[in-house]
Amino acid sequence: MAAPTPDDVQETYDEFTDMYVQVWDENLHVGYWDESSGETSVAEATERLTDELIARLHCAPGGRVLDVGCGIGKPAMRLAQALQVEVVGISISRPQVDRANAAAYAAGLADRVSFQHADAMALPFPDASFDAVWAMESLHHMPDRPRALREIARVLRPGGCLALADFVLHRPARGGRKAVVDAFREMGGVLSLTTIDEYEAELRQVGFEAVAATDVSEQTRPSMTKHAEAFRARREELAPYLGTEVLDQIITLNEQLGMTPEIGYVLVSAHRP
Ligand SMILES: C[S@@+](CC[C@H](N)C(=O)[O-])C[C@H]1O[C@@H](n2cnc3c(N)ncnc32)[C@H](O)[C@@H]1O
Repeated sequence: MAAPTPDDVQETYDEFTDMYVQVWDENLHVGYWDESSGETSVAEATERLTDELIARLHCAPGGRVLDVGCGIGKPAMRLAQALQVEVVGISISRPQVDRANAAAYAAGLADRVSFQHADAMALPFPDASFDAVWAMESLHHMPDRPRALREIARVLRPGGCLALADFVLHRPARGGRKAVVDAFREMGGVLSLTTIDEYEAELRQVGFEAVAATDVSEQTRPSMTKHAEAFRARREELAPYLGTEVLDQIITLNEQLGMTPEIGYVLVSAHRP
């Protein structure tokens, strides 16, 4: 299988977002389960992850936040309501942007939550035009993550905060588990995957300070098995659409990812001095 390109990432989201929402949730990110979660549903666990990231974003009420890689807007709306801020979301997928704007309108939030088509690698905003930046499970899709981080630092005002959630690689995988990591890169459109230390170094190199990472791999890993279960439960419905071969690859990969500790997940906050 050839390495995915940014165009592949865009096409995948354009084509498959609606299906993914049916299978998983309007939050296009993993869930957070801990010992207190019990039988917590996917919807509750994905909101919990949003809340964990909200707790790491420092922005005063009335502030303006950029959401990089906004999906269909569910995290942005929760963030806007929790912190009483304005949110501008961007996505590389136009259908996502349309759906996100419709959702903000339906929720009565369109006056302070809006979405537009843009590439995180070339943000269409002036320098220092946001009080905070939020990037929830989007930066692993960047072909040149340092460039995206430089863009984020540029549009963030001095003193502003960045909060991000993303996949990381704990250590190089070997043997069969290397094949799983390779399949995750290919099928997941994962163009940037590094250790937490390397991620933090990239943030510091573009000028961020007070970089603080929390490893939530254990709390988010159940998402992989639950993904496999969710796709398997809709196998008959999805087979004509995805094809049985691709569907089985998705199910198998997610089962394997649930047993691959090399892949981790991190919540990071950082400040622009
Ligand atoms: C896993 S989804 C997460 C969506 C959303 N943050 C959420 O948690 O529901 C990744 C998002 O990144 C966006 N994305 C990927 N590459 C991008 C790029 N180069 N510029 C802007 N958005 C991008 C995708 O369109 C998608 O909205």
